[in-house]
Order: sequence, then structure tokens, then C-alpha cells
Amino acid sequence: MSNTIIQFKNVTKQYDSDPTVLNDVSFEIEKGKFYTLLGPSGCGKTTILRLIAGFTEATTGEIYFNDKRINQVPANKRQVNTVFQDYALFPHLNVFENVAFGLRIKKMKKTDIEAKVKEALSFVNLSGYEAREIKEMSGGQRQRVAIARAIVNEPEVILLDEPLSALDLKLRYQMQYELRDLQKRLGITFIFVTHDQEEALAMSDEIFVINKGKIQQSGTPNDIYDEPINRFVADFIGESNIVKGTMTRDYLVEFVGKRFECVDMGMNTNEPVEIVIRPEDLEITSFDEGMLQVNVHSQLFRGVHYEITGIDQDGNEWLVHSTKKANVGDNIGLKFAPEAIHVMRFNETEEDFDKRLDSYTEGDANEQ
Ligand SMILES: Nc1ncnc2c1ncn2[C@@H]1O[C@H](COP(=O)(O)OP(=O)(O)OP(=O)(O)O)[C@@H](O)[C@H]1O
Ligand SMILES: [Mg+2]
Repeated sequence: MSNTIIQFKNVTKQYDSDPTVLNDVSFEIEKGKFYTLLGPSGCGKTTILRLIAGFTEATTGEIYFNDKRINQVPANKRQVNTVFQDYALFPHLNVFENVAFGLRIKKMKKTDIEAKVKEALSFVNLSGYEAREIKEMSGGQRQRVAIARAIVNEPEVILLDEPLSALDLKLRYQMQYELRDLQKRLGITFIFVTHDQEEALAMSDEIFVINKGKIQQSGTPNDIYDEPINRFVADFIGESNIVKGTMTRDYLVEFVGKRFECVDMGMNTNEPVEIVIRPEDLEITSFDEGMLQVNVHSQLFRGVHYEITGIDQDGNEWLVHSTKKANVGDNIGLKFAPEAIHVMRFNETEEDFDKRLDSYTEGDANEQ
């Protein structure tokens, strides 16, 4: 039996005659994993959830659920429940009745409803709150009621549309932890939407990075952080230094007028590329020892590290996270390992990108 629960094949979405909102989107969602749709406002995250839930129809393309085409299946016939950003709880019903609502509509037996609601509330640590009014619950507690209301229906997939954005930072961290824990305990598929990259990195088994109605890259948090496919992903996920360069040959790249050893290969000779180096991968050294030389432009103490910016001879700004200090106006050197250099090709498709990365690991295996 296939492990895929949801599949999009070349899905395009256009509302009326407006510009295309989703453009030829294809992906597979596996059972029992935590997925995150990550991208800036308006990129199409909620639209993907609405297509999965059946609240809107694809303009072209196919949507499958458990290998069955569901394009025309109405929302109430899909094994999916949604937790909305504003929770959409019923303010005139108490906690118990909010959670019981869907079961009552299904005309389930009273004793069964009581047992199921009790179990769902215990899952989200709200046992004993059954009789409370919604307006007497805190933001985090309301959030948990909304989740209990989704899981009580025992759906195969839960969709969560920015469910934490209304919470303050501390509660948000706590709920991130709780949601992840809940998903593991339930073992069902969660599809979570956020525009917060830290949240996505912390919570997900797999992230889809979306921009302008297209999936830019999909992969584990580590894959996406370590090997961004393009400038958008590198910029959106974590902080990055991005400069233009040239791939001289395999394992040798040129930028800021110098050649550096790197671990990338499989590109054309002298192909123009973009280089990403993460701020934490740059080490401060003396001017002479540096592989690059910069003039320190700013310095901020961030608690764990200093955040330093320096300008190189070409006018590129380099952001450095370091436990070492540097003074504004100083000329300093920067050092980095070959593995810290990430080379990105212009307009590379995700398929070609994956093939190229696979060829590196094969190369490593051959060397041993
Ligand atoms: N019912 C609709 N009719 C017309 N256009 C719509 C409709 N719903 C969404 N859109 C448009 O589709 C695009 C994608 O919207 P969507 O809600 O999917 O974005 P999003 O990624 O969820 O953004 P946000 O982070 O702001 O919630 C936007 O340009 C939006 O204006
Ligand atoms: Mg949205």
C-alpha cells in the first residue's frame, strides 16, 4: 500500500479572471508526517489548504487523497479537518459543546460523544474545562479547544492555518512544542501553514517553501537550510550572505576577485552562479590571515553572539555571527571552510538540483 495520502498533480488555481494564484503545483504528502507550507503573505498557502479541504476547486490539475481523485468530492466528505487562524470557535457554546459539535451533526450516540470529547480534551491538556465558556478561556486555551475540535473527528489529515500567530512569543513556543508532540502521539498527518521560518525549521519533518504560487523547494529543515536552491530560499530561510560568482571548474569557485575551493561540482566551466555563506560559518581573523578582507561597518551584541557587518572591496556587505568582537572601522579578515560555500545555479529546477546533489554523495561514496 502506498504511503502517500495526498497528491497534487500540476494544480493551477485562478480565482475568476484574477492572476494565477497557484502555478503548476505538484507534491506528495506522506502519512503520519508533519508538513509545513512556508512562504510570504499572498504566496498561496491558504489556497493550498482550501483545495485540500474542498473549500475551493482547482482550475486545472488533479488532487488525490489515498490514491482517489477528489477534485469533485465535497468538503464534508473529506477525511480532513481544519484549524483556522482565528480558531472559529462558537462563542455561545461551552468548551464541551464546541468540541462535540461535529459529532452531534453526525448523530453519534450521547455516551460515545461524551467519551470522545473527554479523550480529545485530555489529549490537549484541557481535562476539567468542559463547562467553561469560550470567552473565559485564554488565547492558548482557545487554541487547544480548536485543536481538540479537529482531532475529535479522527480525520486522517489536520490542516492548520497559522494557528499560532495570535499568541505571544512565549506561548507560541510552548504551543509549537505541544503541537509537535500531539502530532507524534496521534500519528496522523499535519499540514501546518506559517510565514515564520524559525517555526517551520523547529516543527517540521518536511517543509515546502512557496513563493508566488510555486513551490520553490521541498525537503527536511536541514536540507533546506544547508542547501537552498535559489536566492529566494536562501534569503527567506535564515540569514544569508549572497554574492555573485563564477564556477571556474569542479570544486573551484571565484567571487570577490579570488578563487576558493568548494565542494560543488557538475556545472559548466565558468558558469555564472550565486554564492551563499551563512553568517555563523564566517570566522573573524586578522586582516592578513583572512580569505576575504572587510571593513567593519556595524556591530551589535545579540546576547549569544555579536552580529557584525563588514564591506568588502567590491562593496558587498558580509554579515558575521561571532563570539569575537570587532570594532567599527577596523579592517578584518574572514575565514570559511569549503563546505560553508553553497553554490546556486540560476533558474535550476528542483529536479535538476536534487540530481546534482545526489551526484555529490555518489562521488563521496566512490572516493571511499
Ligand atoms: N477568494 C478569493 N478571490 C480572489 N483572490 C483570492 C481569493 N483568495 C485568495 N486570493 C488571492 O490569492 C493569492 C493567494 O492567497 P492566499 O490566501 O492563498 O495567500 P497566503 O499565502 O495564505 O497569504 P497570507 O500569509 O497573507 O495568509 C492572494 O493574492 C490573494 O489575494
Ligand atoms: Mg493565508
